[in-house]
Amino acid sequence: MELKTYLKAQAKAVDAAMKGYLPKASQHPRTIHEAMHYVVFAGGKRLRPILCLAANEACGGKQEDAMPAACALELMHTYSLVHDDLPAMDDDDLRRGRPTCHKVYGEGMAVLCGDALLTESFVLLSKIKAAKRYSAADFVHELALTGSSRKLIGGQVLDLEGEKTQLTKRGLIRIHEAKTAALLMSSLRLGAMSSNATQSQLEALSLFGYKLGLAFQVIDDILDVTQSTEKLGKTAGKDAVVEKSTYPAVIGLDASRKEATKLTRQAMQALAPFGKKRSERLREIAAYLLERDY
Ligand code: IPE
Ligand code: IPE
Ligand code: MG
Ligand code: MG
Ligand code: MG
Repeated sequence: MELKTYLKAQAKAVDAAMKGYLPKASQHPRTIHEAMHYVVFAGGKRLRPILCLAANEACGGKQEDAMPAACALELMHTYSLVHDDLPAMDDDDLRRGRPTCHKVYGEGMAVLCGDALLTESFVLLSKIKAAKRYSAADFVHELALTGSSRKLIGGQVLDLEGEKTQLTKRGLIRIHEAKTAALLMSSLRLGAMSSNATQSQLEALSLFGYKLGLAFQVIDDILDVTQSTEKLGKTAGKDAVVEKSTYPAVIGLDASRKEATKLTRQAMQALAPFGKKRSERLREIAAYLLERDY
């Protein structure tokens, strides 16, 4: 199957599963459930669940076994975006081509919507079947640690504190590792775990996810400079306005592109233990993410 067709089909499968798992938009109290549906079903790329499912497949697993984890990852990611957009954080008006959650439902409701999505991600993850090598607690621990102040939240803290300061490249990598790469890495790891991956498979996919995650944020920062608001579905040029420490700001656009290319190549190299055929889809996704324009 061609990559574009595959990505569409997987995103559709993830959306259908999330629809099945989430409380209906009409469920009481209606406002919060409407807000949750508004932000989740707004057409994100569904990259984290797709990577989770692709890792499961690369290890010879069954897709249905990875689906609760795949959906949980997307809910955690969407929650992080809702809070990232709040006036107290990045103060963004547009997300996934729509007015941000707080613009439509108000700040209080957007805070609660993020809280609810984060909690719901664990309701969902609790549906995971333990594998021979990985207990249900291992799955919960993996996602919880990634969402914690050691990773995602810690990265957002450093990102906020990094505004208007001159960071070194090393300082920048530390932010990206935590705020973005950790969740991408966990996407691969949870997919691998759901297929009862061996230790060496898990290690290879972890390194792939880590490098891909770093590349992903470098590209996000490049696109913020080079693309239009229409294309991105979020306000372009925003990072420079608030003087975010980004790759383009610290090392320039050309060097940033080279860095993204290098990280993507390193990600692909990490897949060597899987052989060409088994890792083909993951390599295709990595190449696509490097070339993406939104
Ligand atoms: C945006 O993530 C936030 C970052 C970590 C850079 P995505 O670019 O995956 O956003 P969606 O899910 O497609 O909206
Ligand atoms: C977002 O980084 C990272 C998380 C939400 C954890 P950005 O702030 O660069 O993401 P966008 O550009 O708003 O999507
Ligand atoms: Mg941010
Ligand atoms: Mg932001
Ligand atoms: Mg950004």
